[in-house]
Parts: sequence; structure tokens; C-alpha cells
Amino acid sequence: MAVDMKGKDLISIHDLSREEINQILDTAHILKMKHKLSELYHPLKGKTLGMIFQKSSTRTRVSFEVGMYQLGGYALFLSANDLQLNRGETVADTARNLSRYLDGIMIRTFSHQDVVDLAEYSSVPVINGLTDLLHPCQVLSDLFSIKEKKQDLEGLKLAYIGDGNNMAHSLMFGGAKMGMHVVICSPSGFEPDSEITRLSRLDATRTGATINILDNPVDAVRTADIIYTDVWASMGQEEEHEKRLKSFSEYQVNGTLLENAKEDVLVMHCLPAHRGEEITDEVIDGPRSIVFDQAENRLHVQKAVMALVM
Ligand code: CP
Ligand code: NVA
Repeated sequence: MAVDMKGKDLISIHDLSREEINQILDTAHILKMKHKLSELYHPLKGKTLGMIFQKSSTRTRVSFEVGMYQLGGYALFLSANDLQLNRGETVADTARNLSRYLDGIMIRTFSHQDVVDLAEYSSVPVINGLTDLLHPCQVLSDLFSIKEKKQDLEGLKLAYIGDGNNMAHSLMFGGAKMGMHVVICSPSGFEPDSEITRLSRLDATRTGATINILDNPVDAVRTADIIYTDVWASMGQEEEHEKRLKSFSEYQVNGTLLENAKEDVLVMHCLPAHRGEEITDEVIDGPRSIVFDQAENRLHVQKAVMALVM
């Protein structure tokens, strides 16, 4: 039975039921097929999505804008620098105003609370395009990419090597909801947020998933089906970059680390990659890597999200 998701916000995977996640993944599969067959499908004809960006983006901006166009709608790029938001207009008033023009809002920003507030005061669905805390659209697409390669998600083990950041947090939520075992392997002081860990473990008790925090990359990857990594310094942490290079030097996903993993392990990265830091050319360009499939699937999965909620 289809779940009605019209009007729903997408702020965190933690807020979604397993049925809703499956519905997004199934819809994405259908939309991907239609796209590959060049079949036109315009469920969002006449609808408009506003896309607020307070941080840079290649994949999120292009996949949302193109996705909206392919669904028959129109997408507006709203640079936060040019909005009155940057001159002190409140998030609440921005939400109230934009809701009078738009049918949906996608936002990429620093403070997660800003997205929560935008959704509270907006009468149209709000989609989180990344905050300092979470990146749900990326992880929904990643679940789709894993499913494409491994058929099923339940029981798989994903080892994330690196910073306990927005990607780690959304992977914990996504894995917990879908019955995957997630291991986060971070150096001391860079572990994931304790509240996200608590909530994802709570979700995991309902699905048979496990959420573990380790600090030894070799132990983490040993029985993994998927190895995932992300930059050591996220957007907004540029000043810490040099210091972080030292803290994370033992956490590189390279050929030597892969020798400890299963032969058919998948290697994933949300991109952009800092080649030679968290991942080597050899691995990201190697046969186990599915990073560009991940990037492509952002388009199909976000189209599914927009078609379902708008
Ligand atoms: N993975 C991702 O969100 O990429 P962008 O920062 O380019 O949007
Ligand atoms: N953790 C990274 C993800 C980029 C898609 C960042 O926030 O910069």
C-alpha cells in the first residue's frame, strides 16, 4: 500500500518510516527506468521549487534543478548572499514569504536548526540539502545505489572511515532504519554526535541493525560489504584543514586498507573528494568504487522525493 507523503518535509531520515524510505527507493527505480527510456513524465507540471544555498554545491544544485525540470516543474536558485536572509530577515519570515510563491523549498545551510525553523513556518514541503548535522538526500541516494548493487540492504555491513560528520550521522540513521550494520571508525575527538548515536541505536533495535563506533580502520573494514568515506574537513571547517590532516592521517581509504576487506567490497564517497587525503586515486578510480553511480542516483532519488512530497 502506498504511503501518502504529500506535504511532508524531508529534514532527517530519522523522521521517515521504513515504508516511506522503501517508497522513495521504489519510486526512484521507476523514475530512473523512465529516464533511461527517454519517457517523459511531468507530475510536477506548473510547480516551482526554490533552492536556497548558503554553502557551495555541484551535485545537489544540478541534480535538483535538472530533476525539477525533468518532472515538468521549474527550479529557482536562491543564493543566500542575495536574499534578505543575509541582511537579517528572519528564517520564519523567509519561510512565510517563500511559501506564498513556491510549492517546495530545498535548503543547504550551516545550522540544522535553521532548516527545522524553515519547515515549521513554511506551508510547503522543505527538503534538507545538507546541514552541518545531516545530509539525508545523499544517504537516501546511497541506499538506492547499494540496493542496485547488492539487491537487499538488510544485514549488510557498512564501514564509514573518517570524520563523525553530517554524512556519518545520516548513514547511521539510514542504516538503522533499513536493518544495516553501520560501523563508524573515527579518530578520538572526531566521533559522531552522541544524541545521533543514541537515536540511531534506538531505531536499530526495531530493525536488527547495529551501530558501532570504533577507532581502528583495519578492524572496521574486515567484514564490511561497503566502505564509505568523506572529506576530513567539511564545508565551514576550512581553517581546521591542516590540523585535521594530521589527526586523520591513519584513516585514509587506500589500497593497503582494502587488502583487509572482502574482495567484492563496494567503495563509496559522497563527493567532492580530496584525492590523496581521505581516499587515494587508486581506490576512487578502482574497480570497487561506485562513486559516480552514487552521484547519478542523486538525480533519480531526489526526483522521487519531490514527486512524492510536492
Ligand atoms: N555530495 C554532495 O552533496 O555534493 P555537492 O556538495 O556538490 O552538492
Ligand atoms: N561532509 C561534507 C559533505 C559534502 C557533500 C561537507 O559537509 O562538506
